[in-house]
Amino acid sequence: MRTVLTRALKSNNPSLLISSTWQLAGRQFGSLAKDKLTDNERETFSSFVEGQSVDPYRDYLSVQEKSGKILEEILSPDLKDNLRSFGSRGRSIFFLQNCPTIGSGKIMPPTPPLAPPSSQRSESKDNVSEYFMLGISGLLKAEPYLIENVRDGTVINQIIPTNAHSNSGSGYKVPFGLHNEVVHETKVPDFFLLLALRGNPLAKTTYCFLDDIISVLPSQILEELKKPNFLMKSGDAAIFKEAKEFRCPIITTDKSGVQNIRLNTAPGRCEGLTDEAKIALKYLNECLSRDVPIHGVALKDGEMLIVENGTTLHGRTEFEGDRWVQRMNLTNSTLDKRNNER
Ligand SMILES: [Fe+2]
Repeated sequence: MRTVLTRALKSNNPSLLISSTWQLAGRQFGSLAKDKLTDNERETFSSFVEGQSVDPYRDYLSVQEKSGKILEEILSPDLKDNLRSFGSRGRSIFFLQNCPTIGSGKIMPPTPPLAPPSSQRSESKDNVSEYFMLGISGLLKAEPYLIENVRDGTVINQIIPTNAHSNSGSGYKVPFGLHNEVVHETKVPDFFLLLALRGNPLAKTTYCFLDDIISVLPSQILEELKKPNFLMKSGDAAIFKEAKEFRCPIITTDKSGVQNIRLNTAPGRCEGLTDEAKIALKYLNECLSRDVPIHGVALKDGEMLIVENGTTLHGRTEFEGDRWVQRMNLTNSTLDKRNNER
């Protein structure tokens, strides 16, 4: 097996395989199907939030239920159908525009220099964006995915450029390599929401699809990637306060026959534990940097992505300047539960 893999590796320029530097800039970026709230829907939701006093970080389940019911009432049947088609795996990435992020007539406060702990939320920022994210998760009948010791353990995370060279969501001077969310935990989120409060045209959220990855992999490489010979590691100590590792395959098939990927291509986040696993991982990295179509979108204010975590990889180009994005990780509570081996 090793000889076969080595030959395959050599035929694809081993000097490139040794480097896993990502060249995302300059790729062609694909477009997404666009769904949009009307101005009336957006304003109606913002007005509803202005009358609410429940803290979305503390009592998120109550906010999720209430906001989900409001969205059920005010969104058009077409938009709700489209959102639910995402929930039933109709799409693996969903783009939603004109989302409410702050009350009518208000101006978004300055981006905080650091993500504030839950006990010290900025008083100048109202809760419209948080209520909306929780409402969308309620509409999709999803459960919040919470991990202690990660970003203050909050239900909605602040993604802010705070650490220039970090290989994580808080970096900005280096591309954030393609990855799935929270790969080092036993159970990963099924999907997540990303909502831009303050977009940056240089910061493209990149993504690619597992089907496209599998279509370019030789069967021997795929076979190695399905073996539990990879160690997924938590990253940036400022985000993951407790170092964690999880040994598993990179590609799995769940009980309903759906293939899933678990990978973080940022340096030091995924290690092959055997010689064959190391070769397969390098081959996969090279395919991602050369053969797999990478799409991307620079989120503008009020634009949201809903991303299925198991069938896509996502990342971010390097950028300069201000940016404030909120993220919420979710598990699917109504659809077939994924195999825990993922
Ligand atoms: Fe991410």
